[in-house]
Amino acid sequence: MISPKKYAKAAKIPPKGFKTSNDFFNYVFKDKEMIWMGQNTNHLHQDNKINDAMIDCVESREYCKYPPPEGFPELKDLVLNDLGLQDDFEILITAGGTESLYLCINNILEPENNMITCDPGYLIIDNFASRFAGKVISVPIYNKECNYKLTPELVRENMDENTKLISLIDPLNPLGSSYTKHEIQEFAKIAQEKDIYLLHDITYRDFSREHYLVAKYAPEHTITIYSFSKIFGMAGLRIGGIIATPDMLNSVRSILINDLGTNVISQVGAIAALKSKHQWINDIKKQTRKNQDIIKKAVDQIEGVFLPVYPSDGNMIAIDLKETGIDPQVMANYLCDKKIFIRQGSYTSKLFGDRYIRISFSVPEYQVKIFAEKFVEACDSLRPL
Ligand SMILES: Cc1ncc(COP(=O)(O)O)c(C=O)c1O
Repeated sequence: MISPKKYAKAAKIPPKGFKTSNDFFNYVFKDKEMIWMGQNTNHLHQDNKINDAMIDCVESREYCKYPPPEGFPELKDLVLNDLGLQDDFEILITAGGTESLYLCINNILEPENNMITCDPGYLIIDNFASRFAGKVISVPIYNKECNYKLTPELVRENMDENTKLISLIDPLNPLGSSYTKHEIQEFAKIAQEKDIYLLHDITYRDFSREHYLVAKYAPEHTITIYSFSKIFGMAGLRIGGIIATPDMLNSVRSILINDLGTNVISQVGAIAALKSKHQWINDIKKQTRKNQDIIKKAVDQIEGVFLPVYPSDGNMIAIDLKETGIDPQVMANYLCDKKIFIRQGSYTSKLFGDRYIRISFSVPEYQVKIFAEKFVEACDSLRPL
């Protein structure tokens, strides 16, 4: 028998009534009435250019061929232009931010190294890091003092001579906190001074009010992780990228898995998405702001409930329930029964999972209103006496 690896993720506890977490996911996916506020996906696209491009690709049967293994040059140029990182950078198209994170973490870390992450955060990063590094230093950031984010000060306090990589999720899943220009410059300084690397995960960048790329300040010490899953509304198409200097990308090339390239239909959709971005982005951002305000109004009515970060710069927000005595898992189950899929805190935190739920709000406004109404009811009915 082959035993599970030492870094294996703790088995997820399937929600009540389901044999596995996969069965639960299949249930929420297949239920057409389910309001999908649990995965930070974007359901606001009305524009048809992305769909049309993919349908044309299917009809042409171009997908019979393998694509160029590192991505269509047109797509690569469009992503670099989108970020204003044309000159000294290269890009590798991947099957999503997740694959990109894995490749970069694998490429950079050695057993004697450690990586700095934060809690709450995107826990798969910690899991990937634990496969390659001796230690993962997950800094607790769920407090007002640090503004609910991993600050340059916290990085300096927690790093040691073995630190090789720092994870900056910006804006941060699940809280929606993001970095100022000054903070980004400080991170760049730390990386350059110590000759270590920054993993800048900008999956939620386009929802933010302002955003700064650390690659512009520390190009030789930054890897930027790009995803088409969120603002572009293409999560199921599994496409993203890694942007870094040619040297760094060369080293990533040595550990590639997807040697035959990324889905052709997804790449064609991604090209159409970037070309049409200027036509739809403002409407999507405006709607997410409005939706976030609907959630804020509901939260303000309920005693003992608050938003740690408001406004969120992502398309998700955390709602703290601790004072109410309501278990976030119980809240998630209650709402799921009402056909609203959200996530309990433990999905994104090992330390603070008993405090909050996470809600994604890039869904149609009427669905956010249903959430707001049901959430107020849930707090009334689940609050211990
Ligand atoms: C911070 C962060 N990075 C990456 C991803 C995954 O991106 P992708 O769908 O491109 O794999 C997510 C998904 O929720 C995320 O929250």
